[in-house]
Amino acid sequence: MSEAVTMDKLVSLCKRRGFIFQSSEIYGGLASCWDYGPVGVEFQRNVKNAWWRSMVETRDDVVGLDCSIMMHPTVWKASGHVESFSDPLVECKVCHMRWRADQLEKQACPSCGGELTAPRNFNLMFKTFMGAVEDDAAVVFLRPETAQGIFVNFENVVTTSRKRLPLGIAQIGKSFRNEITPGNFTFRTREFEQMEMEFFVKPGTDEEWFRYWADERYKWYTSLGMRPENLRMREHAKDELAHYAKACVDVEYLFPIGWSELEGIANRTDFDLRQHSKFSGKDLSYFDTQTNERFLPYVIEPSAGADRSALAFLADAYTEEEVEGAVRTVLKLHPALAPVKVAVLPLSKNERLSPMAREVNDKLRHSFATEYDDTQSIGRRYRRQDEIGTPFCVTIDFESLEDNQVTIRDRDSLAQIRLPVENLVDTLKTKLAGEAFGTDSLWAGARA
Ligand code: GAP
Repeated sequence: MSEAVTMDKLVSLCKRRGFIFQSSEIYGGLASCWDYGPVGVEFQRNVKNAWWRSMVETRDDVVGLDCSIMMHPTVWKASGHVESFSDPLVECKVCHMRWRADQLEKQACPSCGGELTAPRNFNLMFKTFMGAVEDDAAVVFLRPETAQGIFVNFENVVTTSRKRLPLGIAQIGKSFRNEITPGNFTFRTREFEQMEMEFFVKPGTDEEWFRYWADERYKWYTSLGMRPENLRMREHAKDELAHYAKACVDVEYLFPIGWSELEGIANRTDFDLRQHSKFSGKDLSYFDTQTNERFLPYVIEPSAGADRSALAFLADAYTEEEVEGAVRTVLKLHPALAPVKVAVLPLSKNERLSPMAREVNDKLRHSFATEYDDTQSIGRRYRRQDEIGTPFCVTIDFESLEDNQVTIRDRDSLAQIRLPVENLVDTLKTKLAGEAFGTDSLWAGARA
């Protein structure tokens, strides 16, 4: 991480450039709810697509699913959420601020020092009513994790996908938790997106698969450019484990607020399938036709937050560097995550340049996410592209009209080369697909 990155700087850049806005801002905002702007929605989608690509599309042993947010209320009884998905809540008797008792260092209000109430268990699930009558029978919950939709569909998926175990089922979607102390921008919110995969295995092979997925998940972050020095794996102590887990390891990231959980990889054993078999009365065991064995599968679960991953990628990419005596802020995002891959910038708004610049943009936009920008000075436009992490800017100048060549500027090295328009798409494709961003590798062979 750049020495310079703070949460305040990230919040400010996100607002300034259209990554993330506060929800309902014109009404004073809604606490800890955030909206992704035009640049942010593309970036966030790239994070989710990269996860889906690595977890589903490039594997034979994982399939996808998309479940509804509201589920039968018994799901949450079976899963243990009604009973135990709660945090100990205390309230200040003076200023009435609410706190999580397990996160306090002293038994006094951190805000005003006032006396606190005795802790009481506060269930984190959001409740609502389904249908026109608001009575107990109509209560439904907004899901606090996407995982349960996967467990209750286990049999449907196995039958219809005609896959054998080990088999993973992946899902990306919104989850809701009425967190007592949300905060730190998008790190902890009440509405967030999860990227979860439940990997069903034969009991006895679970520990091996647990290690396998812990390694895979670590590699996913580094393969997208996250710096290894900002990542670590932290094994949970036995007394920290969730009620369903036999083992858990967190991928932690060095956020501006310190080391914090990015993702958890848990060995959930057969807890969930056993509970859903019990509560639904439906046998969810699996029959292996090759070995003639019937068993209740164990589950390894890599569970990541899409918003939290996005925040970590932003923090990791955020860089301030001195260029010709001025500070340049640049997001050194991996090209796969960058919201805009190529910006097309005519040197000025001159009417002679526009047709060619538009033509170049039309040519590129079939292959890449591009942005056409002819407002303000070229320096300001470069600064904007640096701040949203655009790997390449293509500039069209008056010489371009004569020789049909354009200039490409590399975000990280600031190197520039000219090349014929007809080589642009292929060159950019090669460069965007490459891992290395150094000047040499970037420009080797770029000229026709
Ligand atoms: N199914 C297991 C499960 O939900 P979790 O550790 O509670 O496990 C998994 O959540 C991930 O979801 C976390 O590592 C984090 O990235 C994300 N997450 C959880 N609560 C969140 C919140 N309030 N705001 C943003 N992300 C959250």
